[in-house]
Amino acid sequence: MLRGKNIIIGVTGGIAAYKIPMLVRLLKKEGASVQVLMTEAAKDFVTPLTLSVVSENPVFSEFFKAQTGEWNSHIDLGIHADAILLAPLTANTMAKMASGMADNLLLTVVLAARCPVFFAPAMDMDMFLHSSTQENLKKLQALGYRYIPPVEGELASGLTGPGRMPEPEVLFKTLQDFFETSASFKGKKVLVSAGPTHEPIDPVRFIGNNSSGKMGIEIARAFAEKGALVNLVLGPVSTEVREPGITVYKVETAGEMAGKCKELFPESDVTVMAAAVADFTPVETAGKKIKKEKPLKQIEVKPTEDILAALGKMKKENQILTGFALETNDEIENARGKLKRKNLDMIVMNSLREEGAGFGYDTNKITVILKTGDNISYPLKSKKEVAKDIVHEIEKLIKEKDG
Ligand code: CTP
Repeated sequence: MLRGKNIIIGVTGGIAAYKIPMLVRLLKKEGASVQVLMTEAAKDFVTPLTLSVVSENPVFSEFFKAQTGEWNSHIDLGIHADAILLAPLTANTMAKMASGMADNLLLTVVLAARCPVFFAPAMDMDMFLHSSTQENLKKLQALGYRYIPPVEGELASGLTGPGRMPEPEVLFKTLQDFFETSASFKGKKVLVSAGPTHEPIDPVRFIGNNSSGKMGIEIARAFAEKGALVNLVLGPVSTEVREPGITVYKVETAGEMAGKCKELFPESDVTVMAAAVADFTPVETAGKKIKKEKPLKQIEVKPTEDILAALGKMKKENQILTGFALETNDEIENARGKLKRKNLDMIVMNSLREEGAGFGYDTNKITVILKTGDNISYPLKSKKEVAKDIVHEIEKLIKEKDG
């Protein structure tokens, strides 16, 4: 699973840095390509020469190569990595990451990275337990960085407690497990719709809703992380999506979204319609801005096409189709009705009665309803975590279908 993977190891100035050559050797043995980045302080604990020899790559610390003045592009390094592991990570670099600082090469690479970033803090027990460090730890996790906790044991200070970096074998296994599970959608094509649609009344006004597109975008990201080739049909939102493995098709109206989804659907193994499609569109769009001197009495509207229902009609036996239902009352019953009517395999229900769920929030609370009749209710989570749960439920459906 590690063969051919580009892995960046970021080493900062902690005593555990002396163990990193072992980790690099383990990764190299499995066929990974390893690029080591070091902070200046790290060089007091392990030499760049050792890490360069074991990684079979030059080790970078500076923005410029001293002899030639050539630039070590942090953008390129970050873009081509499949994973970054920061180990050992000092309290100092953690604090800089938590506040978005970028005063060395390692930090700029992390800030520009599009791939998963793992971090293994290692420090003295009292520094680790200090509330500033604990706060930073929480911030990094909230930013989506993946935490590899330190273990309890004898520390360089002579004290015993939490703060030790896990052994290289444990760090290696974390990366190995990540790539193993991350390949579960390899070769699968996934279609996701996200965001609102805007139905133009005139060149500056539209009918639309409040959707931020966050939920659908996180679902697209979660699938891409598991190796899927994702087509994301995205309504007008401000979020930029630039992860590898996701092709974005920007659309404005329900009509454009319907056209793109219907075009991409036949080649998709899995489809998730997370878009908040406008249900109505003006019968006519004025060519010029409507002036307030000539007040508009009413806007005549017609229903938009129900894209999900149209895809349900096109669906073949081997395809999985998932929709969303935002309900205010009789939630399960209404969502189950939608699942049947639109010929879905699964529907993700959020209730507007739940605090923190639905659009405008960074969190969501969902109940997944399956064609088989089962319901699975999840607690309130970040949309990123909810996306992982949805992908996990779909993974289970695929396994069942494949027998
Ligand atoms: N949807 C769609 N096309 C539309 C409207 C909705 O594809 N024109 C999809 C949404 O992406 C979502 C699902 O249908 O996955 C549920 O949408 P929702 O608005 O909750 O339900 P409706 O079926 O429109 O029913 P109602 O408005 O009566 O709740």
